[in-house]
Amino acid sequence: ALVKRVFSGIQPTGDLHIGNYLGAMVNYVALGERLGRDAIYCIVDYHAPTNPAAYDKHLLAQRTFEAALLNIAAGLDPDKVILFVQSHVPEHTELAWVFTTQTPYGDLTRMTQFKDKAAKLESVPAGLLMYPVLMAADILIYKADTVPVGDDQTQHLELAREIARRWNLEYGETFPEPQIYLNPNAPRVPGVDGKAKMSKSVGNTIGLLEDEASIWAKIRTMPDDPARIRLSDPGDPERSVVFKFLSYFAPAELVQVLREEYARRGIGTLVVKELLMQEMMKTLRPIRQRAEGLRAEPARVLDALEDGARRARAIARATLEEVREKFGL
Ligand code: ADP
Ligand code: NA
Repeated sequence: ALVKRVFSGIQPTGDLHIGNYLGAMVNYVALGERLGRDAIYCIVDYHAPTNPAAYDKHLLAQRTFEAALLNIAAGLDPDKVILFVQSHVPEHTELAWVFTTQTPYGDLTRMTQFKDKAAKLESVPAGLLMYPVLMAADILIYKADTVPVGDDQTQHLELAREIARRWNLEYGETFPEPQIYLNPNAPRVPGVDGKAKMSKSVGNTIGLLEDEASIWAKIRTMPDDPARIRLSDPGDPERSVVFKFLSYFAPAELVQVLREEYARRGIGTLVVKELLMQEMMKTLRPIRQRAEGLRAEPARVLDALEDGARRARAIARATLEEVREKFGL
């Protein structure tokens, strides 16, 4: 289907790793290049307090700022796309309430993320149950047709489609049914420990802003092909997480030569790791430089967010006006 407008929510955190970068942020940037102001990215600060374990009132504003800064540093151009903060556009929460009144309670209690998260809490905030309704409002208030998110959001997206469908039937055609967009080219980045997925919660990440010495310590100890005993043994690059990472950052021809050498006579992976470090830093260094520049001039980030909120709000207001009228308000 033709993508006309994308919406994606960004968690308010500056604690981003190269899995987030290669799996999500690169894609946001590419969609932004293609769609301009029809690429809408929202830092979802109103979602944060639904997780009492991770929410801190003293840190929320700082984390929101960091998320904006790092996404801009990673290549998201706020002059091209719409980048804004959810709580700056109160229409989201108003639409969420309208949807709340129209959504069966049972549809929410069967959400697996709700069940998993609620099981770990002593006291479950009602906001945790309502989370996917607010998410549906975030998307639908822009009439976005496409939502680039991780596959862990499939069930929430299905609910958003149901909310749109139900609304359109009852109150007249208003919302497109938003499709999830899983980029087939986005890699699933493994952890530095060789586990299938790099993730904050596992602690096997390389942070976008992590100190170089600390990154090198992780790369130096990355697992090699486990079947290889001596350096002179041939290795299988398919089984080496080092080669996996190398393929994300190094030119394809270089990777190919190293793979052949490694498979033929086994070359020391320390050499390959040093190259990986070099090539990875070629990607990370400009991001850090831009981040530093923005940190020195925070007004550039804050102004961009203000401008983004103004643009987002113009769209959100128009949708909400239509909704209020159709709803009988
Ligand atoms: P984490 O798993 O570290 O908590 P999030 O769940 O906040 O990361 O993910 C934010 C975005 O980054 C999502 O779009 C998710 O699909 C993507 N992402 C997270 N980890 C990876 C990974 N290891 N490889 C590819 N994409 C990832
Ligand atoms: Na996650």
